[in-house]
Amino acid sequence: MESLKGLILSGGKGTRLRPITHTSAKQLVPVANKPVLFYGIEAMAEAGIEQVGIIIAPETGPEIEAAAGDGSRFGVRITYIVQDEPAGLAHAVLTAEPFLGESPFVMYLGDNLLQGGISDLVSAFREHGPDALILLTPVPDPQNYGVAELTKTAAGEVGRVVRLVEKPKEPATDLALVGVYMFTAAIHDAARAIEPSPRGELEITDAIQHLVDNQMRVEPHVVRGWWKDTGRLQDMLEANRLILDNLIERVEGELIDSQVDGRVVIEPGARLERTAVRGPAIIGAGARLTDCYIGPYTAIGEGCAISNAEVEHSILLAGCTVSDLAGRMESSLLGRNVTVRRGERQPRAYRFMVGDNSDISIL
Ligand code: TTP
Repeated sequence: MESLKGLILSGGKGTRLRPITHTSAKQLVPVANKPVLFYGIEAMAEAGIEQVGIIIAPETGPEIEAAAGDGSRFGVRITYIVQDEPAGLAHAVLTAEPFLGESPFVMYLGDNLLQGGISDLVSAFREHGPDALILLTPVPDPQNYGVAELTKTAAGEVGRVVRLVEKPKEPATDLALVGVYMFTAAIHDAARAIEPSPRGELEITDAIQHLVDNQMRVEPHVVRGWWKDTGRLQDMLEANRLILDNLIERVEGELIDSQVDGRVVIEPGARLERTAVRGPAIIGAGARLTDCYIGPYTAIGEGCAISNAEVEHSILLAGCTVSDLAGRMESSLLGRNVTVRRGERQPRAYRFMVGDNSDISIL
């Protein structure tokens, strides 16, 4: 077998995460203070994949290249592949064809997180040699996902994939497609054979269906751990919670009259004064926290300055300033260098300077 390559999709529009995605790639939003994209690259490295192609959009590509570099720090070699427009996941595969050649490959959506990595899948793919392997997970709301219908074997176990339906009104199963796939080079012809969907994209589900319809073997694999697509705010916060749950305690910053409780990471150069942190939580390098309470499932980015405030179940990107809040901030995502503070000017009123498509809830 040709050596297995990796393909990470890190283009796209990111409309569901606006306004964050007006200025930055959603794949670089940090989960537990590490860009989502890096978890995917690390999963590839762990599975022994050496060559990783990353699909980028013209707008956000340079920022992604600057962040991930040539891949040497992850132990992989990264090739960047520009996709001129976000014309669908199967279009991204075709765009990467010169890089992929005849190699089998793992395709990983750059805004997805999969607990336990991909090593098991790579072994199953190598052992069983199907034409494609798809990952599935039971979800409570299958009508919001791509859903698989499977044959059952005599033993009642899941058999082969019969049909894939994108966001079905009446789902046949609760098994949603997870954003990680394994393909042989047969997927290129399939992607060429299909037509754009009603939303104008070349859908990967249609390309896989094409394989099934042409008697190729598409093997399902039900994942055991959790899987998260971080495309929306709530999912991003949930991913942050799941990753922070496995945090290993490490306090390197300075604590002055402060207290940390539970799984907490305080990065070097951070300074906490009269502050209580209840883990799981991570405080980025150089952050300044004074007279604060930081509650569980919070990730505070590098260089944030927080005073006289309570923050919980939130993600703050680098350089945010939060001060003198009357109520607790929770379930929030703040972009880079955002300021949230209690104003002193009279009359007492809310005063905002907020970008397009922002979302604010107040008491
Ligand atoms: P999606 O989240 O399905 O699409 P999107 O990024 O356009 O987001 P939204 O729906 O909020 O507008 O894409 C999944 C991943 O694949 C994500 O990391 C972006 C990437 N992608 C590409 O690289 N090329 C594409 O053509 C598409 C559609 C997505």
